[in-house]
Amino acid sequence: MKIFRFFAAIAALLAFVPAVAGDIIPQPRKLEKRNGAFTILTTTKITHSAELRSSANYLAEYLPLDVLEDNGKVEGNIVLRENKNLAEEAYTLDVSDKGIVIEGGTSAGVVYGVETLLQMLPVKIYTKQVELPLSVSACRVEDEPYFSYRGFMLDVSRTWIDAEGVKKFIENLAHHKINKLHIHLSDDEGWRIEIKSHPELTEIGGFRGVDSPVAGRYGRWQEHYGGYYTQEQMREIIEFAAVRNIEIIPEIDLPGHSHNLARVRPEVLCNFTPNMEASLGYDTRSALCVSKEDNYKFLEDIFSELAELFPSKYVHIGGDEVVTSQWKSCPDCQALSKAHNMQSGAELQEYFMNRLSKFIVSLGKHPCVWNEAINAGTLTKEAVVYGWESVAACRKATQEGYSTIVMPGHYFYFDMRQSQREPGHNWAAIFDASKVLAFDFEKEGFTKEEMKNVAGIQASFFSELYISHLEDESDYLQYQTYPRICSLSEVAWCGKGGEWKEFYSRLTNAHYGRMLAMGIDFRLAPPTIKYEDGVLSAATTDRSHIYYNVVGDAETHLYVEPIKTDKPARYVFHTKQGGARSGDVAVEAHYAMLKPKVKITSSIEESERNPYSNAEGYNKQARTARTCKDGDWILYTFEEPVTCRKIEVPTGYSHLPRLLFNAGYIEVSYDGEKFERVGDLHLGAGVVDAPKKAVKAVRIVCTESGNGADEVIVRAPNVYPIF
Ligand code: ACM
Ligand code: ZN
Repeated sequence: MKIFRFFAAIAALLAFVPAVAGDIIPQPRKLEKRNGAFTILTTTKITHSAELRSSANYLAEYLPLDVLEDNGKVEGNIVLRENKNLAEEAYTLDVSDKGIVIEGGTSAGVVYGVETLLQMLPVKIYTKQVELPLSVSACRVEDEPYFSYRGFMLDVSRTWIDAEGVKKFIENLAHHKINKLHIHLSDDEGWRIEIKSHPELTEIGGFRGVDSPVAGRYGRWQEHYGGYYTQEQMREIIEFAAVRNIEIIPEIDLPGHSHNLARVRPEVLCNFTPNMEASLGYDTRSALCVSKEDNYKFLEDIFSELAELFPSKYVHIGGDEVVTSQWKSCPDCQALSKAHNMQSGAELQEYFMNRLSKFIVSLGKHPCVWNEAINAGTLTKEAVVYGWESVAACRKATQEGYSTIVMPGHYFYFDMRQSQREPGHNWAAIFDASKVLAFDFEKEGFTKEEMKNVAGIQASFFSELYISHLEDESDYLQYQTYPRICSLSEVAWCGKGGEWKEFYSRLTNAHYGRMLAMGIDFRLAPPTIKYEDGVLSAATTDRSHIYYNVVGDAETHLYVEPIKTDKPARYVFHTKQGGARSGDVAVEAHYAMLKPKVKITSSIEESERNPYSNAEGYNKQARTARTCKDGDWILYTFEEPVTCRKIEVPTGYSHLPRLLFNAGYIEVSYDGEKFERVGDLHLGAGVVDAPKKAVKAVRIVCTESGNGADEVIVRAPNVYPIF
């Protein structure tokens, strides 16, 4: 009891140790620490002018205080006011013995003042369960953003994210002063927004798998799954975001990336042949026909509803990665092309984008496009260009006078891997938060003239790999996006990122704690490991706990001291702080693989160009000469039985995943004659874990006919040595 009272007294005292005004992300332009402090008591009021009611209520979600509309008496209160001398998103935050005053050019600035104040309070504030009193050190902050567009693109099409998930994501973006959420509502894999005049778009196109004409992709072949936002739900999301000064920009990706649309409304395609049969979601005829007048009427219905639903002045109409080849075999598209003296598919695409843009402008909005949409040089200058392919593509758009959002994939695609062996894509680059912070317009060659057309920057998360992430690990969306969003926030707010060392210190000293309280399962940097003189040691720079697993032992151990061992390759390390986790790392020898001589045979004939002997050599992939059927098998026979700890047998591109056995199982044989089934394929790959003795052969057997392609990729087995 006494001990309890002692701790209670300490806790009460701690509440009066003022939170220090520092370590803010993004860094405010000016932060002056002053003497004294203000204590927020249960009797403190949040007072506000009439137009700031929702901002005051927003603060009250975190601080359990009464909200009062009045003329702004400072004494003992937290006062929110507009100050028309400040720019729209600028704010000042004054903390003195008397009270706290937040002034903003508009409610946007006030909300940023609130966000900065939250960062000065104990991290528990983000759990919305803070107890009063709380003390805040006196200070004055004067702050405003460098870019007025600080965006994030979330792909809810490839992998469905429900309204609650999107709100949670928005809530955390707001804490990082991001002000635009570009929501990718349609793509090959799903249509996610209700269109009342065309309910089939979501009723059919919002789901996939089993009997859907938009069958499952990315590994969930047997399930009927998905979802969409009703307009009512979307209104709620828009309202929720607006309180936090986040504008939602809708995207319907056209005229390509439309497998889904083409399955639901096949008549949008060139050379229409009705084909509503279930497929595995692949449909090479994905781009809408440019010549069909009905297509424009149909799209006008859609965009009229979207323009009404979304208050944003921006509407994104896509324009990326359009496969224009089918227009070549469409007599109507060819006639149109000829009539307008067009020379290329790119020009036909721009004809389409211009028609749509004109309609968007007539609705009082700006059309937004991906950078390929200006390749032919004829797109209206009213378009806003999102430069994703390269820095050069961004600069080209600015040079041509387009308002440009800068988001080259090798800095801002947060679906990319954060290190070589972590999950994610690698086609643009492999990078972590430090590279995002290092993005520098000047170093990338942007001239002063070009900068005049840079509206801002944006990062993105395309979600095709989302569902392939293991469920017992950190949330993949959060893992991929934080702390990279922290760096994005710094660059977008400050115009450039500054020193990583200084930023990392703010991040690990203060912001990691905040993110944990926000409930973000962010990515930690993996520990560095060293093996020297028979001793294996691990270290981290962020005060996380380090854990390790030993191959063959299911238990996870806390690392407390260097480990003496002559088998360092057996140890795999990771770090953790709450729900935050690093990837796994081990000494290089851990990743070594055996390459035993193997013979590959199959019930499927091999491709002439890519025979199975390619894969037997462990250096190239092989291909079948046809797609797979239920009952097909591929057999891997080792010249000598191989002693190992694990064999993986992949097909196709598991990271996409394509050209694989969509479903099946794996068998192992110790004598080359008797086979025993040891597991199912996952994303086209089978695993033989801890074989009982030396393995003579493994076989994978297909249980689903077809894979949406004309072939299967056959790869060498991954054979892991016993340590
Ligand atoms: C894109 O990544 N295709 C915009
Ligand atoms: Zn056509």
